Amino acid sequence: MQTDVRGLRLTTSSAAAAQHIDAAVTDFLDYSVGASANLKKALDEDPSFALALCFRAYFMMMLEMRSVLPRIKQTIDELEQRLSSLTRREQLHVAALKAWSEGDIIKACSAWEVIITEHPHDILAMKLHHTLSFYMGQSQVMRSVLAGAIDEWNDATPGYSYVQGMYAYALEECAEYAEAERWGRAAAAGNPGDLWAIHSVAHVLEMQERTKEGLAWLPYTPAQWAQKNPFKAHVWWHGALFAMAEGDTDRVLSIYDNELTSVNTDNYVDVSNQGALLKRLELMGVDVGERWSNLAAFSKKRINDHMLPFRDIHFGLCLAGDGDLEAARQHIGSMRTFAAGKSGWQAESMNRIAVPLCEAIVLAAEGHADKAAELLWPIRHDFARIGGSNAQRDLFAQILCDAAVRGNKHAIARSLLAERVKARPDRKDNWTAYADVLASLGETKLAEGARGRAAKAAHAGA
Ligand SMILES: [Fe+2]
Repeated sequence: MQTDVRGLRLTTSSAAAAQHIDAAVTDFLDYSVGASANLKKALDEDPSFALALCFRAYFMMMLEMRSVLPRIKQTIDELEQRLSSLTRREQLHVAALKAWSEGDIIKACSAWEVIITEHPHDILAMKLHHTLSFYMGQSQVMRSVLAGAIDEWNDATPGYSYVQGMYAYALEECAEYAEAERWGRAAAAGNPGDLWAIHSVAHVLEMQERTKEGLAWLPYTPAQWAQKNPFKAHVWWHGALFAMAEGDTDRVLSIYDNELTSVNTDNYVDVSNQGALLKRLELMGVDVGERWSNLAAFSKKRINDHMLPFRDIHFGLCLAGDGDLEAARQHIGSMRTFAAGKSGWQAESMNRIAVPLCEAIVLAAEGHADKAAELLWPIRHDFARIGGSNAQRDLFAQILCDAAVRGNKHAIARSLLAERVKARPDRKDNWTAYADVLASLGETKLAEGARGRAAKAAHAGA
């Protein structure tokens, strides 16, 4: 029996294996490319090291590809045969892995929650719970679990900054921006390489429309982040949003072409970040050229995967963005089939939100913006159920707004834009669209007021 760097028991007799898994966990939390290599070293030292086998399977799950599931099942079968020889914490990791691989993310999170409650220093369970809760849009859960554990940490606990960064993000998603910024900046000061902490502060700056501060916060180049894993593209995506708000669409396209696409590999095409950015540019009236085609080609291969509703929506977005509406319809059909007759978060999120969102995107692309608006309007308060961040989901609010405006659903558009200018009071595009809608409804005075606000707005964008 060995222990990890935070004193948690590990079922292995190899001290070297324990050290390698510590390094792998650190790399995982740090979004460094070395995590897999360190994990391999741990398993080379002790091929039966249960937590390392579990961690390797977690990594495979993070690829979000159905094709890896048989291999993960093999690992689970092997571990289940010797569960009694493992610690309770390791047994719970196996249970979490099994639930996740079977598509029951809530059950997986429950197992990680038990681990965190009993072992608040299990940072692997913490990070996985945080990530998967984020995938489900469960901001309050993220915050609650971290709030319950963070007092057990301090500067002397290895990896404290990662916990601070996670807590910062959870607070930000719960709109507690001042506290989120305080925790996020402390985390980034403690570990300048912690992308999640950097990202948490970027979210605060995004939600508070502090775009110039945002651009200054994210000056990182591909060379500086050469050793970071593909998550760095998402942080660059935030930089692109700040540039977009400043109206600098050339800079946005440059970030797309140079930073975002710099992380592409054969097995990783960044559909969510890239597709979302292209769609936002199009909603601003920018011609994105042929950039959809690569994303659509990749999305076409994933039509039947359905690992996450959030990802499925982006596959649909990219297929429709490229004009391949037949493939987009095929994808929607496959989503329906996948979720039919099933219960649980994944199926419900798919049926209630992801399918209508994809339908609306296709309807709008076919020229039926009015029908798209009608489809999205009743479900708009439930967009959080597809997961992702508030900033990411704002794209779907923008798509609804655009559909209502283009589909001449004036009353809906007025309501949406009235809400939007309050949430984003310094965005010229919002005020201009609001003024146009008010004018269409004959509300001249309010329209004049909105036009006046548009003229004074510090930022472009929506
Ligand atoms: Fe983000």
